[in-house]
Amino acid sequence: MDIPYRAFDTKEETYAYLLTQARAVLAETDETVSALANLSSALYLLLPRLNWAGFYLMKDGALILGPFQGKPAVSRIALGSGVCGTAAQLGEAQVVQDVHACPNHIACDLASRSEIVLPIRRGDGLFGVLDIDSPEKGRFDEKDLAGLSDVVRTLEMWLGDAR
Ligand code: SME
Repeated sequence: MDIPYRAFDTKEETYAYLLTQARAVLAETDETVSALANLSSALYLLLPRLNWAGFYLMKDGALILGPFQGKPAVSRIALGSGVCGTAAQLGEAQVVQDVHACPNHIACDLASRSEIVLPIRRGDGLFGVLDIDSPEKGRFDEKDLAGLSDVVRTLEMWLGDAR
């Protein structure tokens, strides 16, 4: 499926477009791995200045690496460990402006300077997290949090449709 790359002037426009593409990607499959793979591709393609975008999924009480775009990454993260494990344990999104100043950060790609992680819920439990890294310090703000929360909510609704 072809997702045309578009550059926008504002984050609001970027996320509005990303949301339409995320919905299209999800509508096209019933397979979770395929959906997450295509979503990570859409995120990486449409959001500027990223070096990693993807998913960690809950399995046996820990996070395991799921579909992503970027360099190979750590394949298992314990709850409470790193930015992803913190988001999963607290059930709260984490925005890290400078990973070098975050002692809990797990460095997968040394180019990463800032990071945003959002929990993804399914039913009463945690399905996993969306993790996005940037080589730019302070890349993510409340507009990114709002836009990515919309994408995660859309994914949560898709996951809730008897998957
Ligand atoms: N930085 C993450 C680990 C995953 S890599 O960024 C892809 C963390 O501290 O949780």
